[in-house]
Amino acid sequence: MPEKRVEKPKTLVLGVSGGIACYKAVELVRLLVRAGFGVQVVMTREAMEFVTPLTFQTISGRPVATETFSLTQESEIGHINLADQADAIIIAPATANIIGKIASGIADDLLTTVLMATRAPVLIAPSMNTHMYENPILQENLRKLARLGYHIMEPAEGYLACGYEGKGRLPEPEDIVERIHGLLKKKDLASEQLLITAGPNHEPLDPVRFIANRSSGKMGYALARQGLRRGAQVTLISGPTALAPPAGARLIPVQTAAEMRQAILKEFPKATAVLMAAAVADYRPEKFVPRKIKRGTAALTLQLRPNPDILRELGARKNGQFLVGFAAETEALVINAKKKLREKKLDLIVANDVTQEGSGFDADTNAATLLDRTGAVRRLPLMSKGELADRIYDHLLALKKK
Ligand code: CTP
Repeated sequence: MPEKRVEKPKTLVLGVSGGIACYKAVELVRLLVRAGFGVQVVMTREAMEFVTPLTFQTISGRPVATETFSLTQESEIGHINLADQADAIIIAPATANIIGKIASGIADDLLTTVLMATRAPVLIAPSMNTHMYENPILQENLRKLARLGYHIMEPAEGYLACGYEGKGRLPEPEDIVERIHGLLKKKDLASEQLLITAGPNHEPLDPVRFIANRSSGKMGYALARQGLRRGAQVTLISGPTALAPPAGARLIPVQTAAEMRQAILKEFPKATAVLMAAAVADYRPEKFVPRKIKRGTAALTLQLRPNPDILRELGARKNGQFLVGFAAETEALVINAKKKLREKKLDLIVANDVTQEGSGFDADTNAATLLDRTGAVRRLPLMSKGELADRIYDHLLALKKK
């Protein structure tokens, strides 16, 4: 089982105002509940014309707040209570009308009253017709709110329910969830330029075949996601994976170890830390056969050539960059990892026994041991790769302070 977090679950207030994108807010609540948030939905009267409170109540598991002047709602939920309990308030979809009201200080219903009373960060996800979005009054209101510290998400572009094409779609619920995570995290990596590698390499043999390994890229992508949430600039150099790149990362896709090496060496001078989670191919076919190799009856021998050890090269030329390596081992974990740490001149190495259940290449979890340049050895329990990414960053920051 992944390690349980001891943190208190965060409470979000989701304000839903009346636009056609209300139906997407239902999916947003589902994702937030699944991510472990407590979600209290507040709906405006107009929103209830699109989706019923019962839908949100069923998905969030809490009664939906709709009225300021209902005695039962005020005694059971209470607008000041809502404003105080929220770790963050999200308005999705936010109509031109609600944005105008917030920007003008109008508090004439439950949602606007809660917003007036809160000290929590507020995220606004506008959604409306393109012309309404481009209206200078709306734009002026958004600028004013941004200046006052409100967080504003850009609407997405595309086909709009009103028949127009353009900017005005509610951002995808997954992207809103990601912004919320970012909003709630300490920005303790804000001064870091992270260079992260992920995934396997494909070393081509002929036009249709390649040599690869079982790396899924999940660890590198988790590092990128958590790094972004903690305020870092992230460049992600990734071998072929089936994963969606985290929003906000600069993605450089590569195939072979040689391409990966070239991209890394180009980015290395700008980086403050390198996290080498890629399963770099140690060998490549000696020659690439430009035409498909035909089936035959005789045995076929492949000649392989070793690829350069990229991390070792970085260790030799580092100039203040913090180097994190990964060691996938099947035996003598600590001895092998210590050797790699020393020989590649790393600051930190994340070692894991890939034969252990839950720690394999395609797993969502990992039981790792962190070994650092001071000689410290820290065995971590089985946890999600996202959680492990956070532990790696915590260790990196602590070590940088020393
Ligand atoms: N690595 C690298 N270039 C290579 C091979 C590995 O930069 N050609 C990096 C990996 O990204 C990882 C670390 O070195 O961060 C250790 O990788 P691993 O494969 O465990 O170690 P190797 O040095 O290849 O040793 P071995 O395969 O013999 O265990």
